[in-house]
Amino acid sequence: RCGRILRLCVPILAVAGCGGEQSSLNPAGQDAISISTLFWVMLAGAVVLWLLVNGAFYYTSKVRPGAFDQRHARNILIGGGIVLPVVVLTALLVWGLSILPDLRRPGDGLVIRVTGEQWWWRVEYWPEGADAPVVTANEIRLPVGQRTEIHLTSDKVIHSFWIPALGGKMDMFPGRETMISLAPEKVGTYRGQCAEFCGASHAWMAFAAVVMEEGAFDQWLANEAADAVEPVSEAAERGAKIFLTEGCGACHAVRGTDAVGQVGPDLTHVGSRQTLGAGRIKVTLDDLSDWISHTDLLKPEVKMPSYDLEPEQLSDLATYLEGLK
Ligand code: CUA
Repeated sequence: RCGRILRLCVPILAVAGCGGEQSSLNPAGQDAISISTLFWVMLAGAVVLWLLVNGAFYYTSKVRPGAFDQRHARNILIGGGIVLPVVVLTALLVWGLSILPDLRRPGDGLVIRVTGEQWWWRVEYWPEGADAPVVTANEIRLPVGQRTEIHLTSDKVIHSFWIPALGGKMDMFPGRETMISLAPEKVGTYRGQCAEFCGASHAWMAFAAVVMEEGAFDQWLANEAADAVEPVSEAAERGAKIFLTEGCGACHAVRGTDAVGQVGPDLTHVGSRQTLGAGRIKVTLDDLSDWISHTDLLKPEVKMPSYDLEPEQLSDLATYLEGLK
């Protein structure tokens, strides 16, 4: 009996795993809807085929053994083994190919340029007509109800950009630009993930994709374009000094300060992001301290070294960064 219950539970659990913020089967954008429809139609076809094959098997072995003579058998082989697959696979191929160009449809104006780094995402927003981009990292924000072009490239190795709930997947190559456009239809937070093995911390190369109402998006982008806010507490002021004396600014930029490094993620508004370390941890004081002191443990082989600071220094630095909203 236990076995029977288990056999019943496994498919239910498998289907339950299809939901969530990083699932093609929980679509929140036009392109993801096309892809999930294709999947469900293929699944339904597979179920029908399975029933037909097993039904025929059951019929000829249990109900009427010897029901089919050799001529029948030949017709079934030609019909079911050649004609049916050719017709079905051709129809699926034509349908699949007809969806492909949609994934690269031109956008409505906003362009986001994303560069794959090891192992994080450099993100630039180019609103229509802008001369300079708004630079941020490790989070993509999109206005709902609009098609946005995402231009993709990479620093050293091949990565792949994929937000399953919003659309298809596109590879990112060094020295070459690829494009995918996304048209989200539902406000919410989804999860993107690098989908091409790119080194030790490939699995830790994720990001939040936040779909916002247009007004809220414009407001967020205006804030993101501004210089960093001044530290509001004494701890944050001390943290800002430590940031510069410990050399953080050699790799990271905090616009409006002396930190102008371009090697690592731009931290001007890091406190406003939902995650840190490309989806690795949350932006809280504890997690920030953890990140700075144990970077190599949290993200193997990442370029940023772990910093051996006094607990008060660590806490001041975390306070400063968390306050960069
Ligand atoms: Cu980047 Cu895998």
